[in-house]
Amino acid sequence: MENLKNLIIVIFGASGDLASRKLIPAIFSLKTQKMMPEKCSLVGVGRTNFSNEDFRAKMKEALMTFSEEKDKSSEIIESFTDELRYLQVDNSGAESYTRLRSLLDTISGEKGIEKNYIFYLATPPSLYEVISVNLSNAGLLDQKEGFRRVIIEKPFGYDLESGRKLNCTLHELMSEDQIFRIDHYLGKETVQNLLVTRFANGMFEPLWNRNYIHRVEITSSENIGVEDRGGYYDSSGALRDMVQNHLLQMVGLTAMEPPSSLDANAIRNEVLKVFQSLQPIREEDVPNQVIRGQYTSSLIRGECVAGYRDEKGVARDSRTETYVAIKFFINNWRWGGVPFYIRTGKRLPTRVTEIVVHFKPTPHHLFRRTMEKVSANQLIIRIQPDEGILLKFDMKEPGAGFNVKNVNMDFHYKDLADIRVPSAYVRLIADVMLGDSTLFSRDDEVETAWKFLEPVQRAWANNPSIKVYGYPAGTWGPEHSNDLIEGDELTWRYPCKNLADDELYCEL
Ligand code: BG6
Repeated sequence: MENLKNLIIVIFGASGDLASRKLIPAIFSLKTQKMMPEKCSLVGVGRTNFSNEDFRAKMKEALMTFSEEKDKSSEIIESFTDELRYLQVDNSGAESYTRLRSLLDTISGEKGIEKNYIFYLATPPSLYEVISVNLSNAGLLDQKEGFRRVIIEKPFGYDLESGRKLNCTLHELMSEDQIFRIDHYLGKETVQNLLVTRFANGMFEPLWNRNYIHRVEITSSENIGVEDRGGYYDSSGALRDMVQNHLLQMVGLTAMEPPSSLDANAIRNEVLKVFQSLQPIREEDVPNQVIRGQYTSSLIRGECVAGYRDEKGVARDSRTETYVAIKFFINNWRWGGVPFYIRTGKRLPTRVTEIVVHFKPTPHHLFRRTMEKVSANQLIIRIQPDEGILLKFDMKEPGAGFNVKNVNMDFHYKDLADIRVPSAYVRLIADVMLGDSTLFSRDDEVETAWKFLEPVQRAWANNPSIKVYGYPAGTWGPEHSNDLIEGDELTWRYPCKNLADDELYCEL
């Protein structure tokens, strides 16, 4: 990893939503927290016909609305936005890139900035290839005069084949260490804390295997629907939107072996090994190992909530999944035979991401008479919100006899320090500036994740009899997903109750 160097950040798609909501606020935070290099400049690039002033005004408004900084006075914000530049481009026109190159030359000259450039492609994925080719043709990916890095957002392809093709094209134009594939879950403080929890504490690691762990459950639920992203979402679905990237990365960090060092490749090699050890799901097993659902309209506290098919941009007969739950195994020495369960969905009762490690019960139940049922210890790693760790275990109730009660040992991340947990984009953009790719997906990880999901995508595409279960908005997804969990009376952990007043499950 190198020291922070002076640089210019160029955001493609600068007039879009991602730039306004996440990127500009993150860079503003970095600036406010004095984490930007001494000399740097930010150029917005897009198809919209903006002048520098128009762009600055739009970004000022974005910062007023989305910045998490305490001091959002006009003075502070304007001192940041006044420095911004904008260039209107035609993404596929060579001439636009010649103009971009000369603008960057001018800024470097005026400000005495070395020609270190970061290109953030906050555009639809269909433009990644054309923009990269044009950057390359204009000599902007050539690293002779400074570093050149390209950040891309998921989805990294649509399936295994397109994921490979995208990697191939990018590799023809630049080396892997110039490519930063953002998975914003890896930027979350508590996801990184997984490594510390596991590898800095002597007490968890000896238990972290098939001898002591009964099953592992990972949930990432959202209470919002698809909002104004119906068009994108309907061609994506939860499997591509959340599982291929965020959920599998969490599986990787939960299940990986200790890396030989904290070096980016050492960590990513271990995550890759987990992905390579995922037991392939056979196409014929998809109906039993994978449950998909789609939210239907419901009443939540008396208010009517629209179903997915009524959302803007969504086909009226859509079979796109807004919920998916998968059971799988990791075929290696540590995890052989331990089921992993992952689920994600929109319009569930609450927004929560957590990893639940269920330990095996004691081999002999000494307190059987006084316990209603034998409970097992659980370690719950709460990724968001209310980041922290909860350990559930049994204690004796005070008084005569041996009445056993399940209690909580509860650690909240916010108690650790009086500092705000930085947003994922702040951390990740800082890492790109430093050239640290630890928290970014590598080409082989992306492809191996697609490979694991390929039979599921194929089965859904080829077999229309595989059900899409309707679940009322505000509930925990299809009831059938409990069938995935092995063991009598075992269910998913439900962090809170269903919200829908009227729960009518159906098949779509
Ligand atoms: C994005 C998905 O990657 O992650 C969205 O495209 C989803 O559909 C979002 O809403 C969830 O992120 P977070 O940080 O709110 O859990």
